[in-house]
Amino acid sequence: MKTKFTALVAAIMLLAAVLAGCAQPAAEPTVAPTQEATAAPEEEATVAPEEEATAAPEEEATAAPEEEETAAPADGEKDTIVWGTNAEFMPFETKDSSGTVVGVDADIAAAIAEKLGVELVVEDMEFDSLPAALESGKIDFIAAGFTRNEEREKSMDFSDTYYVARQVVLVREDSTIASEDDLKGLKIGVQNGTTGDLYFASEIEDADVQRYTTIMLAAQDLAAGRIDCVIGDNLPIGVIMNQIEGLKLVESIVYEDESYAIATRKGETELMTAINEVLAEMTESGEIDELLTVYSTGE
Ligand code: ARG
Repeated sequence: MKTKFTALVAAIMLLAAVLAGCAQPAAEPTVAPTQEATAAPEEEATVAPEEEATAAPEEEATAAPEEEETAAPADGEKDTIVWGTNAEFMPFETKDSSGTVVGVDADIAAAIAEKLGVELVVEDMEFDSLPAALESGKIDFIAAGFTRNEEREKSMDFSDTYYVARQVVLVREDSTIASEDDLKGLKIGVQNGTTGDLYFASEIEDADVQRYTTIMLAAQDLAAGRIDCVIGDNLPIGVIMNQIEGLKLVESIVYEDESYAIATRKGETELMTAINEVLAEMTESGEIDELLTVYSTGE
């Protein structure tokens, strides 16, 4: 009897052991989900559609946008931005002896690239080629002592104003020109495609407008007596007057103000926001004023 009882106990214990053993594999599934959780959420959706049909959509909804966010910068993978200018326009831009473009606009352009975390590339070209270069994508923005006006606003977007300029009339010291009337019929030098060309010189009755690729070339022709006056932007003309002797401004002719701003292709709101932030920072800190002085007088 005793042995029978012992055998029964042993059998029960064996059964219990087997049951306990069976219970162990049941714990394994708790390991699996952990692995799945660290694996890509995408996989979950394709691997276990049946089991997690109800849970999956929720998880996917929160996981997917995250992935898109990190993928976005890689998408707009541009690591350079191209600044278009005409580097013949101090204090805003010129080429130094090593061929580097320097000036107020150069420092602004560098700050824009820095804000965007990209490398700045400079495209120096003829002034009147800038709008088409922007439109075609050859350059990403124009900073060139570039005046904002209605005509240009039709084809590009403009930033906030960073300098208020005006056109001035440059003559030889012995000139008797004293009024706008006196300009009629004269030989007037301008830089091709500038506001001085399109909205001032070209409006003067019977004017013989001579168009140059740079305002300096116009001033040199004026000094040499080949033209009667030059119409151009006040600060660059001021810099030129320090370099060429025998020239003066016609103080009695005062044209209206114009605003320098930076131009982008239409609808580039992200870029424009960065540009305006840079301009605001550099204006508020007094940096732009400082640069205007340094590049107008230094050199
Ligand atoms: N402010 C004038 C304009 O927008 C002249 C600008 C000339 N700029 C230059 N970098 N050359 O037409």
